[in-house]
Amino acid sequence: MSAQPSHNPNADPAGAEGVWTPESWRSRPIAHHVLYEDARALEGALRKLGSLPPLVTSWEIERLKTLMGEAQEGKRFLLQGGDCAETLDDCRPDVITNKLKILLQMSLVLVHGSKRPVIRVGRFAGQYAKPRSQQTETRNGGGEETTLPSYFGDLINRAEFSPDARRTDPHLMVRAYQHAAMTLNFVRSLVEGGFADLHHPEYWDLSFFHHADLPPDLRARYERMRSELSGALRFMEALGETSVDELSRVEFFTSHEALNLHYESAQTRRVPRRTMHYNLTTHMPWLGERTRALDGAHVEYLRGVANPVGVKIGPTAQPGEVVALVRALNPGNETGKMALITRMGAARFAAAAEPIVRAVRDEGLRVLWVCDPMHGNTTTTSGGVKTRSFEDILSELEAAFELHAAMGGTLGGVHFELTGEDVTECVGGASGVTEGDLERNYASLCDPRLNYQQSMELAFRIAQRMERSEAE
Ligand code: PEP
Ligand code: CO
Repeated sequence: MSAQPSHNPNADPAGAEGVWTPESWRSRPIAHHVLYEDARALEGALRKLGSLPPLVTSWEIERLKTLMGEAQEGKRFLLQGGDCAETLDDCRPDVITNKLKILLQMSLVLVHGSKRPVIRVGRFAGQYAKPRSQQTETRNGGGEETTLPSYFGDLINRAEFSPDARRTDPHLMVRAYQHAAMTLNFVRSLVEGGFADLHHPEYWDLSFFHHADLPPDLRARYERMRSELSGALRFMEALGETSVDELSRVEFFTSHEALNLHYESAQTRRVPRRTMHYNLTTHMPWLGERTRALDGAHVEYLRGVANPVGVKIGPTAQPGEVVALVRALNPGNETGKMALITRMGAARFAAAAEPIVRAVRDEGLRVLWVCDPMHGNTTTTSGGVKTRSFEDILSELEAAFELHAAMGGTLGGVHFELTGEDVTECVGGASGVTEGDLERNYASLCDPRLNYQQSMELAFRIAQRMERSEAE
């Protein structure tokens, strides 16, 4: 890829060779690059983006880094979750409220199990860009085959299967930014206003507890935890009228995959009285499995921002490669700066993760270990539908807890694709979604997400696992 001109009004003058600037990624080879046909339209969109107020502040970013540092030391636990691909259409009050509700409720279950405060990080307010394994999509209609570019998320093109919709459009970056701002504005107001009526039992839909297929001992354990939890909530409420309110006035942070570097770098700037650059579109940008090449543009971009950053680590990653990545992204070995998000697949987890965890530990590198049990466990049904099984997800999580404990470390967080809606995208769990149910409400435009009940059940299972570790 040749060097590209910068249109960022916040850009520093081009750095010398080896010197980082928000634009130095432009001279590196780039995977999953977003090409725009109209250079002037791109320039206009980037100017606009760069001139808008930021979505988050450096103060909030530094706070998240501090909290992640504490999670690294086993004093907190990170819960990161949300859609695979957020859409502009889903920027609606009910959808946003349900997303917060599920993250909040899961976090309370986890607090209960782990006896640790939980950091809530949404995959929202910017999770609009998707790397795709296939660059094009072919459909058959009226006996004719049509091939178009794939859908790369609402930040880049549109999902509708037409040549116009699938063309990359730089103006979508501005629209996505505006929708991220609206999402965040609503999140902030809900959080400020104490949105969750936590003490109302009907607010918690735990009907999966009664499912006939649930083994009796598991049902009994769920029931015990539920009654302890509601007892704890009632107790807090009894302390005074504001207690539950205060409990629900909690912090949420945002995160998204830093895929489209045009978008990311347009809002990367220095802020008054700080020397570092911040990506002000989100608190925690992360790199996906497909864009973490050490000499690539994405690592070049991310190495210079002061935000805490995550990197997805898949089953083919080599220990030496991961060590080099951590060194590049966190040269000062700062606490709270770096999350390694493993996504190996249940069957491969132990063998693939062990040498990596060992190498990082032996090199004395400070990272927060997070388990994403979703992306290594995607399967396709005989009918061609992408799904994931609750049992595989749970089994990768269990393996991660076990490995880190066995190696004298700690699993500091979990990363899920989930939604507060009643979708049927993943199979299994006590609520009993089967392959046959998948077509009932499969709403994801990308990867399959856990639904409300599956997410709650997972939180209960993780909490039980953490209770057990506490007791050991
Ligand atoms: C994702 O988180 O949606 C994703 C694409 O993950 P990964 O890079 O781990 O495949
Ligand atoms: Co995904």
